[in-house]
Amino acid sequence: MEINCGGVSSGQLGTEVVLYGWCRYIRDHGGKKFVGLADRHGTTQLVFEGSLVHGASALGREDVVRVEGVVKRRGKDTVDPSNPTGEFEVHVKSLKLISKSVTPPFEIIPEKSKFLANEELRLKYRYLDLRRPEMVKNIELRDGVTKSFRRFFWDEGFLELETPTLVKDTYETGARPFIVPSRTKKGAFFSLPQSPQIYKQLCMVGGLEKYFQIARAFRDEDQREDRQPEFTQVDLEVSFKDEKYVQDLIERAVRSVFADVLPLEDKITFDHIKYKDAMSVYGSDKPDLRYEYKITDVSEILSRSDYKIVGRVLSSGGAVKAICFKADYPDKVDKNFMLGLVDEARRLGLKGLTWVYVKDGSLDSVPQAIAESLKTVSDDLLNSLGASNGDVIVFSADTDVKLLLTVLGRVRKMMGDRIGKFKKKFSFVWIDEFDLFEKDPVSKKLIPSHNPFTAPFEEDIPLLDSDPPSVRGRQFDLVLNGNEVGGGAVRINDADLQLKVLKLIGMGKRESESTFGFLIDSLKFGAPTDAGFAVGLDRFLAVLAGKDSIRDFILFPKTRTLESPIDSSPTPLSEKRLEEDYSLHVKKLKD
Ligand code: AMO
Repeated sequence: MEINCGGVSSGQLGTEVVLYGWCRYIRDHGGKKFVGLADRHGTTQLVFEGSLVHGASALGREDVVRVEGVVKRRGKDTVDPSNPTGEFEVHVKSLKLISKSVTPPFEIIPEKSKFLANEELRLKYRYLDLRRPEMVKNIELRDGVTKSFRRFFWDEGFLELETPTLVKDTYETGARPFIVPSRTKKGAFFSLPQSPQIYKQLCMVGGLEKYFQIARAFRDEDQREDRQPEFTQVDLEVSFKDEKYVQDLIERAVRSVFADVLPLEDKITFDHIKYKDAMSVYGSDKPDLRYEYKITDVSEILSRSDYKIVGRVLSSGGAVKAICFKADYPDKVDKNFMLGLVDEARRLGLKGLTWVYVKDGSLDSVPQAIAESLKTVSDDLLNSLGASNGDVIVFSADTDVKLLLTVLGRVRKMMGDRIGKFKKKFSFVWIDEFDLFEKDPVSKKLIPSHNPFTAPFEEDIPLLDSDPPSVRGRQFDLVLNGNEVGGGAVRINDADLQLKVLKLIGMGKRESESTFGFLIDSLKFGAPTDAGFAVGLDRFLAVLAGKDSIRDFILFPKTRTLESPIDSSPTPLSEKRLEEDYSLHVKKLKD
């Protein structure tokens, strides 16, 4: 019987089995050879005795073999409790070498005293990295979650469709697109889609009503742990439905994924918070609500203290904001951690961040002078923040209240993650009613807060003429444990309104027509109302697994410098090919 390397069990004791796999470890003991034979299901120990020892002696790490042998129970003192097959071993009767391996550049499973190879090396030899049990788990999770989403949307009557990958260059999200030169139309370019957004809207105009796709999206932007230049969206769109329908749909989809891949998790719940409230209470549009820690305005209290800069900041229209953390000072966070946090707050733009802690019912600080300067308001501060012994209070004053809130939001996240003590393992929250526009920090021009196709709230439409920055968009994000794992919106389905929004972001009629004309035209032929959503699959997986980097959930990810370690792409093309096929000429770059 053929079994996999994780499939040996008591039912097979005494029977003959066939196994294929990689020789992960090879040990000599008492004239016998012991080989750990591994595949993606597990590792089974093979025993070579007598005449077979000779053949086994030629084996090296990661050689691929086929063996036939008899399943036996291991002796009591040789059982390996850390391995699910650790009670058994296969006594080999015949061995066939399928493929030799050169010495691998790193150990797939390093021995206890050694470290795992660094990521750079692992990504260069990703096919070896994929043999690691942890990577197998990640990739299997990806498969399970993808299948589960698919099943859900099939069952809900959605059509699984494929939108094009060579598309028009529209700069839809604000990230740079990746461009593809055309051979047949010299000097013209396709773009890789930043999302299927426009095409799924066209599907709705086409009457397809319920669309979904596990879609690849491409964005050329600065890389972070939670970003890749090509990533996957679970993307959907529905006609004649609103945000309530989409949010309910996504909640049910996520619940069905949890039931399939994390069946032991407690019931998950979804909170709601408006964008404006999220910013003022948590200093973030993706607040981590596994912990409470709200930002409180303490301007009035501190204005009565001897704390110096407050008066100046308040008279210039600024504010003083504080957060109180259940930090068990100095156990969970100590002075060094707090000093690091102060540096980070400065790096992010605040002039300073003050921290004090509660000891024996009153404020204390390093240096003491800070607590001294707060003496007159100490009780009021403790009461207003509900602070008790061991708590750390941080506060800062700034004239730029938006900056103050955002940096405190960052501080909140760093402190929260450090302290732990989560109320729940998974905290989902919908962020509703985003502003339709935001101001570009450099040009100060209006830009779409998500993309230019989001419908404004009906009652805010008059504000498009009088006060555009205050218009709310029917845009919503899904946040999980402080990570934006999805975004969606109700779309504009009126050509004039679409042109108006484009005009407000600085696109004249001619530019709008030349860039988005094909979408705007479609809206003139009877466009249904529609709404949709996209889950960032890679990010969702990383958060489910409690990991920071999405690279571990992508087969062949790119590096931070947007290069592909496995095949060293991007690579230059010959001048001849560029010239002949694409009429392109690359300027010589100085070394
Ligand atoms: P949005 O731009 O919010 O929405 O993208 C949807 C989700 O995709 C994930 N995501 C990323 N994941 C990895 N690497 C990236 N570079 C990256 N960028 C985004 C995030 C995000 O929430 N068309 C709209 C959806 C819609 O309105 O239907 C869109 O693309 O988790």
